[in-house]
Amino acid sequence: MHFELMHKNRPTASLELAAENGKIYVEKLASVYEREHMPVGTVHPDSPSYNRRKVEAWLNERAIPKERSGLQRIIDSYGLPHPNLLLLDSLGISLSDQYWLKPADSNVTWGEVNFFENRFSEDLGEILLGNCGDIRDKVFRSPDATSSGNLPKKWQISNNRRILMKGGKRPYFQEPENETVASHVMEFIGVSHVEYDLTAVRGKTYSLCETFVNRDTDFVSAHYVEDMSADIPSDESKRLDFFLVWCEKRGITGVRPFLDRMITVDFMLCNTDRHLNNFGMLMDAETLEWIGPAPLFDTGNSLWNEIPTEHVRPGETGECKPFRNDFHDQLALVSDFSWLDPLKLKALPDEIAGLFRTHGILDPGRIERIRDCLSWRVGFLEYAIADPAFLRRKPRHRRRPGSLP
Ligand SMILES: Nc1ncnc2c1ncn2[C@@H]1O[C@H](COP(=O)(O)OP(=O)(O)O)[C@@H](O)[C@H]1O
Ligand SMILES: [Mg+2]
Repeated sequence: MHFELMHKNRPTASLELAAENGKIYVEKLASVYEREHMPVGTVHPDSPSYNRRKVEAWLNERAIPKERSGLQRIIDSYGLPHPNLLLLDSLGISLSDQYWLKPADSNVTWGEVNFFENRFSEDLGEILLGNCGDIRDKVFRSPDATSSGNLPKKWQISNNRRILMKGGKRPYFQEPENETVASHVMEFIGVSHVEYDLTAVRGKTYSLCETFVNRDTDFVSAHYVEDMSADIPSDESKRLDFFLVWCEKRGITGVRPFLDRMITVDFMLCNTDRHLNNFGMLMDAETLEWIGPAPLFDTGNSLWNEIPTEHVRPGETGECKPFRNDFHDQLALVSDFSWLDPLKLKALPDEIAGLFRTHGILDPGRIERIRDCLSWRVGFLEYAIADPAFLRRKPRHRRRPGSLP
């Protein structure tokens, strides 16, 4: 199958593709027309050569991940085509950037196919949410064929806005609520974020957020900001510098203050899922200028979402990401806390407990335990802000509240 990789209306590369056993193969990267418009991470800034394997990895990571909740069951039960075929049927069009695949024998234009301006089918999204068993006569051209992440999700159009609807997972289905709580917290303390609302459809709770990308911008996840083939350091003490060096090499500014806020929010809310595809940068798709860090999104795996209520404790945190495995070690990477208002910080546990109570979804005992854990984390943070050297001490040398209850 011969396609042109397009960036808006710009032919960027000519590709010979094959799809087999759940994978897309780039059999030939015939020509690269506009090197600088190739997706970030697929060409090395210092090397003139092209590596079709990088383009292949980029394309495959664009399809619905195999790990998506319920996907295999839907494929097995209803004969839904494989994710990579869905990706090709949808021409690889997404609502997170301006790349797409144009069949070589077609005259179709970006203006005619992009999902920012044109309507799309919600059939695939409904199937992926488990709301529709019979896939006959369904239309699959949709941004749901290119959405990543493991939670059930679907794009929809409401009042001409492109909205991502995300569900939760067992046992508490707490993630949609967490998204709204996290966006409220970030609004409260002044951190740039995606706004999430809560809705219920057929008895299930979902979060709703609008795309933070428009028809002129690309979201580039931190994963692609770093060079994909360079050795990502296994030594965790080098991970932050590795990322910062790549941001500098690419000319992205404002990264340190952004990371300070992200790490602090993730510490407070005990977010266990800030991997390199859950934050990133925005770029102007025409001029290729970096706009800066994207507003924070996907903070749903937090607030002890998967921990049984009786085990919700401040020390029951799980593993931290992306720069350190331990939350306290990662917090020690924050370079400046002066942007954080101590009075607002103190108010957060009650504020968050109040939000959960208003939603009326979690049981009161669980909310109370989450509130207590948040008080502990806020206390820890206050202590760290007052005495920055405190975080750099080994845990056993930290005085209260460094010792976990
Ligand atoms: N509001 C948004 N606008 C544009 N792209 C988004 C938005 N929210 C998420 N995405 C893209 O979709 C991917 C999956 O969404 P995410 O919220 O991370 O889902 P999950 O919780 O399943 O990981 C993200 O990694 C990002 O690339
Ligand atoms: Mg995610």
